[in-house]
Amino acid sequence: MSYEIKDHILDVAVLGAGGAGLRASLGCAEKGLKTACITKVYPTRSHTVAAQGGVGAALGNMGKDDWKWHMYDTVKGSDWLGDQDSIEYLCSQAVESVIELEHYGMPFSRTKDGKIYQRPFGGHSTENGKGEPAHRACAAADRTGHAMLHTLYQQCLKQDVQFYNEYYALDLLKDNNNEICGLFAINIQDGSMHRFLSKITILATGGYGRIFQSSTSAHICTGDGAGMALRAGLPLSDMEFIQFHPTGIYGVGVLISEAARGEGGYLKNSEGKRFMLDYAPHAKDLAARDVISRFISIEIKEGRGCGPNKDYINLHLDHLDPKILAKRLPGISESAKTFCGVDINKEPIPVVPTVHFCMGGIPTNFRSEVLIPSQGNSEEVYSGLMAIGEGACASVHGANRLGTNALAELLVFGKGAAIRAYEVLENEKNNNKTPSQNQTDEIISRFDSILFNKGDISAGQLREKMQKTVQSRFGVYREENTLALGNEELSRLSSDLSHIQVKDKSSIFNTDIIEALELHNLMQISRSVGASAINRTESRGAHAREDYPNRDDDNWLNHSIVWMKDNEFEVTKRPVRMTTISNQAKVIAPEIRVY
Ligand code: FUM
Repeated sequence: MSYEIKDHILDVAVLGAGGAGLRASLGCAEKGLKTACITKVYPTRSHTVAAQGGVGAALGNMGKDDWKWHMYDTVKGSDWLGDQDSIEYLCSQAVESVIELEHYGMPFSRTKDGKIYQRPFGGHSTENGKGEPAHRACAAADRTGHAMLHTLYQQCLKQDVQFYNEYYALDLLKDNNNEICGLFAINIQDGSMHRFLSKITILATGGYGRIFQSSTSAHICTGDGAGMALRAGLPLSDMEFIQFHPTGIYGVGVLISEAARGEGGYLKNSEGKRFMLDYAPHAKDLAARDVISRFISIEIKEGRGCGPNKDYINLHLDHLDPKILAKRLPGISESAKTFCGVDINKEPIPVVPTVHFCMGGIPTNFRSEVLIPSQGNSEEVYSGLMAIGEGACASVHGANRLGTNALAELLVFGKGAAIRAYEVLENEKNNNKTPSQNQTDEIISRFDSILFNKGDISAGQLREKMQKTVQSRFGVYREENTLALGNEELSRLSSDLSHIQVKDKSSIFNTDIIEALELHNLMQISRSVGASAINRTESRGAHAREDYPNRDDDNWLNHSIVWMKDNEFEVTKRPVRMTTISNQAKVIAPEIRVY
């Protein structure tokens, strides 16, 4: 079909209006760059709105703290797979970024003397793991993401960021030299087609938790940026590392914040035993998430789960002061009541580990520039392309993210991306590149082929099959045979993409075509996850292999890099960056990881 295409000439196109996209848009606009933020949902509906417990920064408001302890905890939490220069950047910049957010108007909870309230969170300690739990999670009750997203959006409006709300990006645009020069999007409201021609494109498209059937991620978390990257010939990094949050509500997958344990809650099995005291004698119920999720799975597998089917664990808050629960945890009090009929003052909440966060994504350096990975130490970057937030892999989380570091990441790297974009544009003073007409035609013909395909199944039916496979084959514990089965099933399901029928052919709010396009991304991402998971023959962080139970630093202190070639997935490696940016930080050598 032929379409009229509207071109928009920009300095910077930011794709995604979660915390990372908004913080980057704000930073670019503050520097006078012509910035557009393109988003498939209205900005304040982005998934950051669901973040609960807090943003990690060593402010030291409620006890001694130091960003270098935060760095140690993050490296250890990452099971040494995190790039240490990126982690240094995150932890050293988080303090200033949070204070800046306070000055932007973020309604943080307060201590008696008016400082930002900070609570303990899993894996955060003092004295490099040897001291007491750190009070590091800067919180707005248990609705921190909500408060943050609204604060950032208001600041963006103040700075006149141009918003293109409810636009769905189909693909990255390239010029005749194969360089990225913006992105192509459809306006969901009226079906019009748009090319955003930008000197710099920043992907802030979030995670891909919806490859799983049950996830705390919103239904919009379909990894659109990662799908676009794969189709543009770019690789993804560390896709096998999917975080299971220990406390999703049993049967529904709704998040019960780690703040619940930060405020004094604990887990018990069917024997009424606080099992985490045995598994993690020092950190107890505030060990890192991967560790707790593994132990909950063991308790259930060994018959000590609760309920008639012995398939969940109890989270107790009923011993805590009701006033504190009402003040500090109003959101989860409501979720527990609504989704499982539990009054947290009286009864425990039934919980199971639930998919929560994707550590993998588009590989970048600590400046948020997208990398051209190679087997060696080369750190070349793609000119004009950056990635931030959950969709990127900087890699600050390595094999396992610590709670509160996602919100810290989006603030620090959103701001950092804007600083870097400005520096690049100052130095290069480059003009917008001209997009290749052939490539634009290819994007449109792909769109048409999905819209007008004569198939016999719906995107929803195929998505459900894919999600069931991913859920059952790529869980907390993995092993060769199950992974291989999962990969075979996904390869078969992937060929069914050509059998999808989009029934709605109209151009007004056609969610049928959007779901089909999202499913193409989800399918490619699932296959990247499967290929990376079977390839990594060790256990590290969130990747627990029953057949390879130990971490293997000799062979696997490397990032997985997965490429899509002719609809097949090939995995290579990139060394972990064991360097620091400044001489204030020291490289933290691998240790045995115990809590
Ligand atoms: O448990 C939580 O509140 C989640 C926080 C996070 O993922 O950082």
